[in-house]
Amino acid sequence: MKLTKRPRRLRSSESLRKLVRETRVSPESLIYPVFFVEGEGVKREIPSMPGQYHWSVDRAGELVELCRCAGVSRLLLFGIPDHKDGCASAAFDPEGIIQRAMRALKALAPEFYLITDVCMCEYTDHGHCGILHGREVDNDATLEVLSRIALSHVEAGADMVAPSDMMDGRIAAIRTILDENGHENTPILSYAAKYASAFYGPFREAAGSAPAFGDRRGYQMDPHNVREALKECALDVEEGADLLMVKPALAYLDVIAKVKQRFDLPLCAYAVSGEYAMAKAAAAAGLIDEYRVMCESAVAVYRAGADLLITYYAPELAGAMRRGDLG
Ligand code: PBG
Repeated sequence: MKLTKRPRRLRSSESLRKLVRETRVSPESLIYPVFFVEGEGVKREIPSMPGQYHWSVDRAGELVELCRCAGVSRLLLFGIPDHKDGCASAAFDPEGIIQRAMRALKALAPEFYLITDVCMCEYTDHGHCGILHGREVDNDATLEVLSRIALSHVEAGADMVAPSDMMDGRIAAIRTILDENGHENTPILSYAAKYASAFYGPFREAAGSAPAFGDRRGYQMDPHNVREALKECALDVEEGADLLMVKPALAYLDVIAKVKQRFDLPLCAYAVSGEYAMAKAAAAAGLIDEYRVMCESAVAVYRAGADLLITYYAPELAGAMRRGDLG
C-alpha cells in the first residue's frame, strides 16, 4: 500500500522510541512525603498506605538510609503531634514534632532538601485547617497562626514551606513574616489549586486529621471548577508564591495542563494518598501490574505539564526512572 505517513515507523525499536520521546523525567524532580510521630523506636506501617510508615525522630537515620539507597533527597515533612488543641499550638512549638524531625534530618543528611507542609489540621482537636469561629474556619485569624507555623519551620531548618490550608491571603502573610525575619530567600510552594477531594481519605487516617464535623468544602476547591484554579494561582503568584501546585494529580490532569499554559512558575503535582492506596489495593488483589501502573501514572502527570511530582512512590519511581522505564 502507498502510505507516505506511517506513524509506526517511529515506534519500531526501543532505541528509536526512547530517542523521540516527548516526555522525559528525572529522579531530581521527585519529592517524597514522610510522616513523623512522637515516641521512640517507632517505624510503624500505615494501614491505609501499605509501604509507608510513621517514623519517630530517633529512627530518622533509617529513613535517611532508605532515601539515600533509593536516590531521593527531597522530602515533604508531615508531623503528627500527641497534643492537639483549638489553635494548633504544637505546630509552632520549637520543640514540636516537625521541628525536632527537621533538626535530626539536617544533622544526619545535610544534603537533603526539606519542605514542610504548613497546615493546622493535624494539630487541631477539631481536625479543621484553621481557627474556628462557631462552625466556620475564620480566614483572617488563621493567617496569623499559619505565619507563625511557617516561621517556626524555617527557624528549625526548613528549606521551603508549602502551605496546604487554602485560606485566602496566606501566601502574602507567610511571605511577609519570613521577610521580616530575614528569610527572604526561603521559597514558598503554594498548594494553589487544592481540591476538596475524596482522594485524601488514606492520608487523613494516617495523619489523624479528618474533620470532627463537616468537611473542607468551605475552603478547598470544588472539583467541578478549573477557571477557579487559575484564579487561585494568579492570586498566589501576585502574593509571592515561588512554585505552584495542583492536587490531587491523576484526576486533575486538565488542571495541570491549563495552569502550565498560563503560568511560568515551576509546577508541582501531588499524587495523593488515595491514588497510591488504590494502586496498592488493586495490585494486592492481583488486578494490575503495579510497577507499570506506577510508571504510566507518573508519566501522565509529567506529560500533562508537571515539572515536579510529590508521590509516595518516590523511592520506587526514582529507581524506575534511573533504569529508563519512564523515558
Ligand atoms: C493538610 C494536607 C492534606 C494532604 C496534604 N496536606 C489533607 C487534607 O487536606 O485533608 C493530603 C495528602 C494526601 O492525601 O496524600 N491539609
